[in-house]
Amino acid sequence: MERSLDALLSWWELSGVDVPEVTANAARKPRPKAEPVKAPKPEKPAEQKAPLPDQIKRVENAKTAASGAANLDALRTAMSNFDAGEISDHARQAVFSRGNPDADIMIIGEAPGRDEDIQGKPFVGKSGQFLDKIFASIGLNEDNFYITNVINWRPPGNRNPTAEEIEICRPFLQKHIALIEPKIIVLVGGISFTALTGGSGIMKNRGQWTGLTIDEKDIPALPVYHPAFLLRRPELKKDMWHDMLSLRAKIAELT
Ligand code: URA
Repeated sequence: MERSLDALLSWWELSGVDVPEVTANAARKPRPKAEPVKAPKPEKPAEQKAPLPDQIKRVENAKTAASGAANLDALRTAMSNFDAGEISDHARQAVFSRGNPDADIMIIGEAPGRDEDIQGKPFVGKSGQFLDKIFASIGLNEDNFYITNVINWRPPGNRNPTAEEIEICRPFLQKHIALIEPKIIVLVGGISFTALTGGSGIMKNRGQWTGLTIDEKDIPALPVYHPAFLLRRPELKKDMWHDMLSLRAKIAELT
């Protein structure tokens, strides 16, 4: 009960509601002013013509590099040494993951932005900090989740990844999931939802559990809104709260 109340209070605080003090030791820090975030990416990958021979070759190279990785360190090294074309040419580094590799919950976002490119870790900028608060509202943190992205290099100028770039990164992501063996996956944002399920429309699919088959294992996956989108559409935070409750129920059932 106390846990639920605490989660609800932190959720309200997150949503901009003035939360009253409810216990003697419940003093809360003043809420920092919301800062502007970059515009959310539309769901569709950038328009692209038919794949060029170079791009086809890169997808084959990615399959070879990822399949040869026997563990996470090897996968990280393979990714760091990989030529993914424009995205890896322009990025400072490959952005691999953060969190606990033994966690049951794997979170998959879209693509690194500027802060992630600098720090080499996913979701460390403004929207990542918001995402952390969202998961913290149901008691999740880096000790009990593991987080990565569909795309491992920052697309130049934060443009959307192309369909080919998603295909180039896919073997790495599939291997990454297979090595982590999560019990539950959270798909953050429309690009992640589409890349992993082939479906489209995060607005109508968020909160609907779906199944992913990775390495012959079925894993339940929950699509949710991207935090950058939510920061622009705060009235939709209540949907995220419902999705977090659904996630918490699934964790109680499966872990
Ligand atoms: N948005 C994402 O989807 N992933 C990140 O790592 C950062 C922002």
